[in-house]
Amino acid sequence: MNNDNTGLILWFTGLSGAGKTTTARALLEPLRASGARVELLDGDELRSIISRGLGFSREDRLENIRRIIYISKLLARNGVIVMVSAITPYREMRELARRELPGFVEVFVDCPLSECERRDVKGLYAKARKAEIPHFTGIGDPYELPEHPDIVIRTHTQDVESNVSMLLDYISLRLERS
Ligand code: PPS
Ligand code: ADP
Ligand code: MG
Repeated sequence: MNNDNTGLILWFTGLSGAGKTTTARALLEPLRASGARVELLDGDELRSIISRGLGFSREDRLENIRRIIYISKLLARNGVIVMVSAITPYREMRELARRELPGFVEVFVDCPLSECERRDVKGLYAKARKAEIPHFTGIGDPYELPEHPDIVIRTHTQDVESNVSMLLDYISLRLERS
């Protein structure tokens, strides 16, 4: 657990289709309704803007994560609760974020690969299986399981509402302590 209370960055890591974006988006409204300032940095979205042109090699993923860390830092030190939804498949990258960001909270969005593939929200798994997408996380590229996540949410067995409620409880405890 990161006990530095100088910010709050909920970093959702997990496979494509695990539910990072869905869960983070569902948290936005109740957090804003409570008066908090909150921003969501989503991997897919950032890759069409500040990370445009980056691919999915280990180097490019690291560069993407470095940019996200930088923006997170600016927001967090101005009192904004930051949520990041990005696969962040390598431990090295998550540990970099933990070192760089006071208030970093690793949220492992846990969902079996078979279920992510069944959901195939964007049809990317089907393409990856046909070798149309090289380096696809979980197929041709690794996802290193978090060893010491601060929070685990299971999207295969828990619905969005109960995960959001658990995260809201965690956040209010954190904010009480700061
Ligand atoms: S990373 O690894 O953290 O830099 O990835 P991220 O910025 O979150 O981008 C992941 C989204 O890009 C789409 N996509 C791929 N994901 C994984 N591997 C490959 N090769 C790939 N190609 C495209 C996909 O829509 C990911 O979004 P999510 O929301 O995870 O499905
Ligand atoms: P990611 O951003 O991790 O790639 P998405 O949020 O885009 O994942 O996709 C997750 C998909 O799984 C969505 O279609 C969502 O409706 C579905 N889903 C089913 N159950 C859950 C759950 N408990 N939590 C989050 N998403 C869920
Ligand atoms: Mg997403």
